[in-house]
Amino acid sequence: MKEQLAKAEESVAKLQANRNDRWYPTFHIAAPGGWINDPNGVSFFKGRYHVYFQHNPFSTHHATMHWGHVSSTDMVTWKREPIAFAPSIEADRDGVFSGSAVSSDDGDTMYVYYTGHRWANGVNEDEGNDQVQCLATSQDAISFEKQGVVVRGPEELPHFRDPKVWKMGDTWYMVFGACSVENRGEVWLYTSANMEDWEFDSILFRDPDPEAFMLECPDFFPLGDKWVLVYCPMGPAISGYANRNGHNAGYVVGTWAPGEPFIQTKQYDLEDWGHNFYAPQSFESPDGRRIQYGWMGSFNHPLASQEADGWSGQLTVGRELSLNADGALTAWPIAEVEDLRVSTTEIGPVNLGFDESLRLVDDATAVDIELEIDLAATTANRVGLQVHKTEDGHHSYVYYDDLAGRVGIDGRLSYAGESGYRAAAVNPGADNKLQLRILVDRGSIEVFVNHGEATVTSFSFPADGPRAIELCSEAGTAAITDLRVHSLRSIWEN
Ligand code: FRU
Repeated sequence: MKEQLAKAEESVAKLQANRNDRWYPTFHIAAPGGWINDPNGVSFFKGRYHVYFQHNPFSTHHATMHWGHVSSTDMVTWKREPIAFAPSIEADRDGVFSGSAVSSDDGDTMYVYYTGHRWANGVNEDEGNDQVQCLATSQDAISFEKQGVVVRGPEELPHFRDPKVWKMGDTWYMVFGACSVENRGEVWLYTSANMEDWEFDSILFRDPDPEAFMLECPDFFPLGDKWVLVYCPMGPAISGYANRNGHNAGYVVGTWAPGEPFIQTKQYDLEDWGHNFYAPQSFESPDGRRIQYGWMGSFNHPLASQEADGWSGQLTVGRELSLNADGALTAWPIAEVEDLRVSTTEIGPVNLGFDESLRLVDDATAVDIELEIDLAATTANRVGLQVHKTEDGHHSYVYYDDLAGRVGIDGRLSYAGESGYRAAAVNPGADNKLQLRILVDRGSIEVFVNHGEATVTSFSFPADGPRAIELCSEAGTAAITDLRVHSLRSIWEN
């Protein structure tokens, strides 16, 4: 694989040298250049956190998947590592697709399970795919030895990919997504005693939605006394505010124990309501937190950065997952994000009159905003923040809509990026307060509502010039009880 990796590095260095940084993330993981999609192999191994990702080092489009790699001792500052995988064996000829990483029992070897991808006709998906689960091992998480195929499925299945592995008791478990012969999206479960020989156990889950023909990137993990199955169904149609993106990620909750069936106890719901959130993957950190990274990108809508800027796609910040009292999944920026704060502007309680706006910051490139709205004392139809606001009037609008009871991101007046809006239903607590945490990077917005009960994640690519932030009320007044803006530093060590 050495030769292929050297070529990949050479290409990425060229893209990096010509990269336009106007929208390139400051505090989100991204490749130095080229295309990225799914986070892969998120893990902790020999004292470092590792995040790999689907990566095409040759252009800003999805093709010839490699695995890019970054690592960190603290999930605050990250180091760019050499590209970890390139297609180099027959089984992964057309791509080293998504997968996961675990550590051997003695902690000395990293085992990576990934999908070896081949197009049946050698050029595209038209005549189907040939997908198998492969193993690679490493002593340092940097250079890997491919061990070949460990799981081969029925040849007629067109989709069979994205292994996620974990251990319970003496047994290793692997789930991955499949498209059944009846064209239904399923999650298959395999087990192993030695990490190398894998046996079919059961079909853990079949999506009750008959439109879902493939479940990409399943992730199955315990939270409290429940098990959460996160997956990305391909096929479901638009439904109200849901499934508006070409690709959407969601989850179900249930109970499970080794040898038992998964019993679903909570209906499917989207995990994030923005334009750009897909293929998330989680791991358990040494202190017991369930931490997830998602991909911000799009297979369907060309991104403005893809054209001329030399890069495409980034990951979300790390999100700590929990189940709330209603049994729903919550996601909150990991505490480490707060360590990136370098200065804070306290704006404090503010009351806005009818149709009023207030400039908070003249130029913000990377900020973490905390905002609390007293809904009982607010009459505005919508209240929110215009971010990435440039002199020409372009901006993206992060808003609370009192008529719809939703928090959203409206891209209608964004400079570049998707123009539509996306919004999540919110449930203000008994005190009728709505808390928003909004992370704004050079090209993205992540909104976390009420301790993470809803999240909305979208790209936002501003015009040239200073990027202001303005608070505004529409057709009514707004009572803001708490408001501060923290500036964030870069995550990069190199
Ligand atoms: C999801 C996905 C995976 C696949 C990978 C290929 O975004 O399509 O199913 O392994 O991306 O890059």
